[in-house]
Amino acid sequence: MFNLQNKHAVITGGGSGIGRAISVLFAKQGATVHIIELNKAAAEQTVAEIEEAGSKAFSYEADISKQEQVLAVFAEIGKVDILVNNAGIAHVGNLENTTEADLDRLYNVNVKGAYNALYAVIPVMKANGGGVVLNMASIASSVGISDRFAYSMTKGAIYAMSLSVARDYINDNIRCNTISPARVHTPFVDGFIAKNYAGKEAEIFEKLSKSQPIGRMGKPEEVAALALYLCSDEAGFITGTDYPIDGGFIKLNN
Ligand SMILES: NC(=O)c1ccc[n+]([C@@H]2O[C@H](COP(=O)([O-])OP(=O)(O)OC[C@H]3O[C@@H](n4cnc5c(N)ncnc54)[C@H](O)[C@@H]3O)[C@@H](O)[C@H]2O)c1
Repeated sequence: MFNLQNKHAVITGGGSGIGRAISVLFAKQGATVHIIELNKAAAEQTVAEIEEAGSKAFSYEADISKQEQVLAVFAEIGKVDILVNNAGIAHVGNLENTTEADLDRLYNVNVKGAYNALYAVIPVMKANGGGVVLNMASIASSVGISDRFAYSMTKGAIYAMSLSVARDYINDNIRCNTISPARVHTPFVDGFIAKNYAGKEAEIFEKLSKSQPIGRMGKPEEVAALALYLCSDEAGFITGTDYPIDGGFIKLNN
């Protein structure tokens, strides 16, 4: 089960956190993994880890918000069976402390970045007789989270974008789903705590851990396991669906 042998999987942001865990697991299950990353050194580190374990991976340095760069990378990769739109950036703030520049930056990476990869890959998947797309959404796609104005906007867009793609390409044998994690302990979380809560890191870490009724943050490997299922042939009946992985955040926080 969950065999990805002979499949080419593209993972954006595979140099860190959730994307790194997905890259490592997909390669272990037999996929040839292609990592598109802004951070070249981090991507090369994931590739080295995969190669050391005897599997196959390649890294490509690109900014997913730049269409020209993304199209060039996908032209180089060629056949793609699985696309995981994972790369994303955070922003802490409500509407009043979100500047136009903040909004544009979040949109360009989190929304346009996913669009750019889809724009490149959908024709390839259609020509190959199908494929699977998995987009990284968030609990912020469907729940009001304080001080996440720009971020929530982008993750709501990812959810709606995924429904649109799932609907439009269902007859091309392309499935498209989203995963919505609550807090997962990655450099993404450590980074925004350090940037926005200097001096109160431990207190905020504890608070964010407790915001999941299960009492802790998720692990990147736990998200990767769900990603593997959704991208495997075993999930062939699943499309147009969002999967929260949230330690009870959405349904048990009362
Ligand atoms: N960690 C969480 O708590 C959490 C919760 C819900 C959703 N998510 C989502 O999961 C995804 C991964 O999060 P993470 O915590 O692993 O983050 P992370 O910061 O650990 O890793 C993200 C990776 O994306 C890369 N990246 C950023 N901008 C890029 C760009 N323009 N082009 C190419 N690569 C770029 C970064 O270099 C980094 O390696 C994001 O979309 C995030 O919004 C994370």
